[in-house]
Amino acid sequence: MKLTDSEQALLDGSQGRATRKAMEILVALGHIYGAEDLVPVRSVQVSGVSFHNLGQAGLQWLEEMAVDGRARVLATLNPAGMDLEDWQGQGIDAGFAAQQLKVVGAYEAMGVAPTCTCIPYLTGNLPAAGEHVAWAESSAVAYVNSVIGARSNREGGPSALAAALTGRTPRYGLHLVRNRRPTLEVVAEDTLEGTERWGALGRVIGREAGGQVVWIRGSSRPSLPELKSLCAAVVTFGGSPLFYLQGSGPAPPPGPPPVDSMAVTAPELDEALVELADGDERVDLVCLGCPHASLAELSELVGLLDGRIVTTEMWVCTARPVADAARELGVVESLERAGVRVVCDTCFAVAPLDRPGATVATDSVKGCYYGRGHNKLRMHVGSVARCVDAAVTGRWR
Ligand code: F3S
Repeated sequence: MKLTDSEQALLDGSQGRATRKAMEILVALGHIYGAEDLVPVRSVQVSGVSFHNLGQAGLQWLEEMAVDGRARVLATLNPAGMDLEDWQGQGIDAGFAAQQLKVVGAYEAMGVAPTCTCIPYLTGNLPAAGEHVAWAESSAVAYVNSVIGARSNREGGPSALAAALTGRTPRYGLHLVRNRRPTLEVVAEDTLEGTERWGALGRVIGREAGGQVVWIRGSSRPSLPELKSLCAAVVTFGGSPLFYLQGSGPAPPPGPPPVDSMAVTAPELDEALVELADGDERVDLVCLGCPHASLAELSELVGLLDGRIVTTEMWVCTARPVADAARELGVVESLERAGVRVVCDTCFAVAPLDRPGATVATDSVKGCYYGRGHNKLRMHVGSVARCVDAAVTGRWR
């Protein structure tokens, strides 16, 4: 792999041990994937934040890197395992909180902004089309490629941190235009509406298309929440973090159209949602905001509640800057008056919810997958309105 003189100097340890380690990670990855060189990146989204997933070994590695590692480009952080300010209200035990705060502290020491959100593109980390970035977090990578048109592979925690400390990533995969051409056309026949149905489309595409870049055709145009939901689901279920959507977002690079085609019908989407459901009729917790809710979604939730009070615990997860803006507008106060908890910095999938077997209702297909996997929850997935009904009545109907 060709390195510039300055990259070679980083690899030789000119800027300290952590940067040398970071270069070693990138060079090893470059060799594995056949990269010819490294490409400078404009920004990084770092995952591997929840102590629930990292454990003691992960924290120790971060603290070692933080001794002399410093970010060279804008770097933002994925959700943590708890609300960093209101972890007690969230029911997190003090031992976990202490370790989680050390994780975030290590990242901060390295100059990674403690944004703790999976919607970095709505909170200050917004690349331009065509720029190279190195983002971890499945939903954000799909969004940055498919909606914004920037270029990123799906990074893991260590490779994203390595990119932050060096400002580089190996040039392979989706950094190369030739790998960004769609190879499969997907004809979405449903009149698609609702975050849960766009998520179901993502699940079907992820499962059926595998790693192929798909070109989605159809007459429906997704809203921002629907796009977030599609991006989150497609990668969670094994799809490429790059797709094209007819009439929305960037166009594919010039080249022959895909030869292969598949249709996704309304009954397939229904089935994809039914397959995910294994909860009881009685709902213990309702969770919205996966991916994290935008300001508009928080405001719309107030409208959907329409003055009703929830009888079941309900969370809406969001980024702290979004919650701050919503608080200014009185939106947080309205939600709290209705009994809804506005949770920042985390989500129900990465926080350690010690409620195995509890039934959780959500509109998020991705959240459904991780809620079941990470926290052993039983899940229902449906529209936001249906989730609100469950929160008000305590029943999934
Ligand atoms: Fe974000 Fe957590 Fe969902 S990280 S995409 S809210 S699983």
